[in-house]
Amino acid sequence: MDRRTALELCRSKTLKDTTVRHLVSVEGVMRALARRFGEDEELWGLTGLFHDLDQDVTGEDGVGHAEVAAGWLREAGVDERVVNGVLAHAYPEYRTDLMSRAVVHADAVAGLLVAAALVRPERATGMKVSSVKKKLKERSFAPGVNRDEVTGAEDGIGLPLDEFLAIGIEGLQEVAPEIGLTAQA
Ligand SMILES: [Fe+2]
Repeated sequence: MDRRTALELCRSKTLKDTTVRHLVSVEGVMRALARRFGEDEELWGLTGLFHDLDQDVTGEDGVGHAEVAAGWLREAGVDERVVNGVLAHAYPEYRTDLMSRAVVHADAVAGLLVAAALVRPERATGMKVSSVKKKLKERSFAPGVNRDEVTGAEDGIGLPLDEFLAIGIEGLQEVAPEIGLTAQA
């Protein structure tokens, strides 16, 4: 599935712009991670883009989260590896390969990075690892972000925290123009 079609699917299945922003931010992080590992950037990007596709229908802890999305994706003929990755972000039993483990960490770090960008006048532009680490330690900042899933990238996919954050920032910066997270003109 090409990216334009994938984005159209995201827009048609979501109700909130903030959901699309979240999906695209995780896509950006997944693309950067794929490049780091020499993996398939398109496949990883789609997994990020679709991981919470059903969020506005099933709700944050809703019954059937990720399973509803998996049904839509299979109907649309999306690669089964992507479907597995989408299921993996919600259910540990699907975390069977690097991509399906990476999406868990990408999801969490993208949440932290977007929240950190929104409190900076320059948004994601010029964002530094050191300042993101401060936000990570500040538990009252973006309390919905699962800190363990951010720091867990070391055990989960073998990336030390600083490197993981740097890759995450790079990934977010790439998609930032699409989701209003660049420095204001
Ligand atoms: Fe998510």
